[in-house]
Amino acid sequence: MLQPYNSVEWFFTRFQNICYNKYCLLFKEAHVLKIGNVELSNRVFLAPMAGVTDMPFRVLCKEQGCGLVYTEMVSAKGMHYQDEKSTKLTLLDEREKPGAVQIFGSEPDIMAGVAEKLNASDAGIIDINMGCPAPKITKNGEGSALMKRPELVERIVKAVVRVSQKPVTVKIRKGWDECSINAVEIAKIAEACGASAVAVHGRTREQYYSGKADWNIIRQVKQAISIPVVGNGDVTGPREAKRLFEETGCDAIMIGRGAQGNPWIFSRILTYLQTGELAGEPTAEVKINTIIRHMNMLIEHKGERTGILEMRSHIAWYIKGLRDAAHTKQKIFNMNDKEEIINLLQGFLLRQQCREQE
Ligand SMILES: Cc1cc2nc3c(=O)[nH]c(=O)nc-3n(C[C@H](O)[C@H](O)[C@H](O)COP(=O)(O)O)c2cc1C
Repeated sequence: MLQPYNSVEWFFTRFQNICYNKYCLLFKEAHVLKIGNVELSNRVFLAPMAGVTDMPFRVLCKEQGCGLVYTEMVSAKGMHYQDEKSTKLTLLDEREKPGAVQIFGSEPDIMAGVAEKLNASDAGIIDINMGCPAPKITKNGEGSALMKRPELVERIVKAVVRVSQKPVTVKIRKGWDECSINAVEIAKIAEACGASAVAVHGRTREQYYSGKADWNIIRQVKQAISIPVVGNGDVTGPREAKRLFEETGCDAIMIGRGAQGNPWIFSRILTYLQTGELAGEPTAEVKINTIIRHMNMLIEHKGERTGILEMRSHIAWYIKGLRDAAHTKQKIFNMNDKEEIINLLQGFLLRQQCREQE
């Protein structure tokens, strides 16, 4: 129904339209990114983290606006030998699409076979792990050990790209150690072999997760290749997010530890990038309600026993920094019953609220 010109309703509808259009424009110009043929709504991604980025957590991050989520790393060998656990890790929920499935391995044929299998999956993007520093991975020549063998990187990326119907991306580090910094060389190889984007974690394998991430190497990679570059390392809030974009010119950023127990980091960063406003941290009540939702989803996805076991570390991350968190965490690490955990969290919340009123 047409509203009379200049009526309150007419004015209100027009005002809403103007705001909406302006928002879309800002959002599009500042944030839309294409990786291969996959269009992402914004440029702030959740990093792959084994033991952290389970499906429920990825859904919670998506709800907060995260532009792209990655699964935990999945063993290509495991999938090749039909390991049920590995295959389950590649499943994506409708709410998290388009999502990236990350695979690790060192044998081009096996990696390609897995990529071919994933053609029939819900994966939007296939990512290859070239950054994991764990000895149980690197001793097999996988993860960050690949950075020591550029010729193998070439064979793997070529083989995977050849069979994959999805865009293929790689996630690399600065290099193996300070004496072998070769992120630019590896990124160029990935691009030449058909990769659609490269994510760079600005630390060497030798550093693991310690020290400061070197954003300079991200800038160097960005200047050397034409496909999108995703900068990663040490973003823990909106200000660092903006700085990482500005200092490196990267096309997207990826957040790891800063998102643990903190899916709200995505909405806070997006708001800051779009408006310059620094939104506050979520209240204790929001955190506890989110923990309970996360736990219920995890139990539904993995069963009560595994769900609760895996939820314990998530809870510790969510409540970090709140009053009495260390003591509560200790208690939760000895609990196996969902209702018992919920009761404990409700008492914990009451104490936080009393504190807020003090
Ligand atoms: C607990 C944990 C698990 C991780 N698992 C993976 C993984 O499965 N695949 C991967 O490429 N990187 C993994 N990473 C590395 C992160 O994706 C990221 O590169 C790193 O944490 C640096 O980013 P940040 O400083 O924002 O945490 C992991 C990191 C952590 C802390």
